[in-house]
Amino acid sequence: MDLTDSQGQADRRADQLRRKGKDLLVQGQSEPAFACFDEAFALAPERLIHRLNAAAAHRARGRAEAVLPLLRPLAPRFRSSLQPAGSDPSGDPSSDPSGDPALLPVFWRHLADAESQAGEPCDAARCWLELVRLEPSAERIEDVLQALGGWLDQRRHHRQWPDAADLLLNGLRDLQPHQPWIQGLQPDSPLLRLRIRPERHGEAPLIHALHRQGFPDRRDARQVDVLRAAGQLSLSLVAELEGELVGHVAFSPASLLPPAPGVPDPCGIQGLALAPLSVREPLRRQGIASRLVAAGLAAARDRGWAWVVLIGGLHFYGRFGFGPASAFGLRDAYGFGEECLAMELQPGSLPPGGGLVRYSPLLGL
Ligand SMILES: CC(C)(COP(=O)(O)OP(=O)(O)OC[C@H]1O[C@@H](n2cnc3c(N)ncnc32)[C@H](O)[C@@H]1OP(=O)(O)O)[C@@H](O)C(=O)NCCC(=O)NCCS
Repeated sequence: MDLTDSQGQADRRADQLRRKGKDLLVQGQSEPAFACFDEAFALAPERLIHRLNAAAAHRARGRAEAVLPLLRPLAPRFRSSLQPAGSDPSGDPSSDPSGDPALLPVFWRHLADAESQAGEPCDAARCWLELVRLEPSAERIEDVLQALGGWLDQRRHHRQWPDAADLLLNGLRDLQPHQPWIQGLQPDSPLLRLRIRPERHGEAPLIHALHRQGFPDRRDARQVDVLRAAGQLSLSLVAELEGELVGHVAFSPASLLPPAPGVPDPCGIQGLALAPLSVREPLRRQGIASRLVAAGLAAARDRGWAWVVLIGGLHFYGRFGFGPASAFGLRDAYGFGEECLAMELQPGSLPPGGGLVRYSPLLGL
């Protein structure tokens, strides 16, 4: 048997062990699962998936210090992976024996966490930037800012934190030159401590007051109360700054009716309607609404919702991926026409035949 044969055998065995480990994890048998991941890594250490599994196993066992030696050596090789062709031939992910470029975001996320825990904030910042470079969506930027905010809170007195915040924010500005709110972020800005989180019990009156300021006719503030009371507040996120609620966004269920008699009924397909959205007056035009929307879309996608519709301007919502609902063949029963916008959270989730958008009747449009 030649060397390639025995390598192939080791690879196959490592893959078997990985599958077995995943099954064991599903059954709640974590320690035997981790043992499988360790063994798979020992058999095929050059495969990124095995290295990531072994790193995740170390973290789950509380051995954070064992993660860095596994992942750090690969960073220089992947760091340049997105540079223009020819600028660094060693960085081409397709020439990487460890394979799958889809694993790279997972790699950077694991390494960023490990560098943060090890007290290496500048290295963590570089990892987060690689993550945003790979996945330059508003949602990913929000993830990174939340991570930075949490980490600044914990490590305010660490000597490197101002350097790390500078590094991260300068990098984000370079990556997102057309986003004014990112251009405006400064390392000393209190907005770096903005938290986007789910509404908590007892916050209903504060949220009501926020929307009353945003929409003086009271209707939108009431809608949130009514949706909540009816159990139709599918997602309710607040922006908290230094202990105060400064913004809120709500999502409620939406569905589609068939576009015409005889066309298959897309009614089973469920999405969300985004409304209302408000930010407290003196804090507007600093990106708070943008962060609420980005975090809301990420949470909706994580929870398996398929699409989102809203009534609003393309100028603001276009940056998150919304387009005219009409481009998806969707019609809006309320006559908002081009102001009705839609976005797929799961690609291909809106039916090709289109449909009539139906918001929750409680939304009172
Ligand atoms: C609409 C509303 C939610 C926006 O909140 P916000 O926090 O100001 O929103 P953002 O800061 O994310 O974005 C608003 C604008 O400020 C810009 N901006 C953000 N940060 C900036 C900065 N640092 N410097 C300059 N401009 C900035 C954004 O790019 C955006 O610009 P645009 O006019 O090109 O769209 C807020 O004005 C509000 O509560 N209005 C009343 C309620 C309402 O009308 N809701 C509408 C829901 S569709």
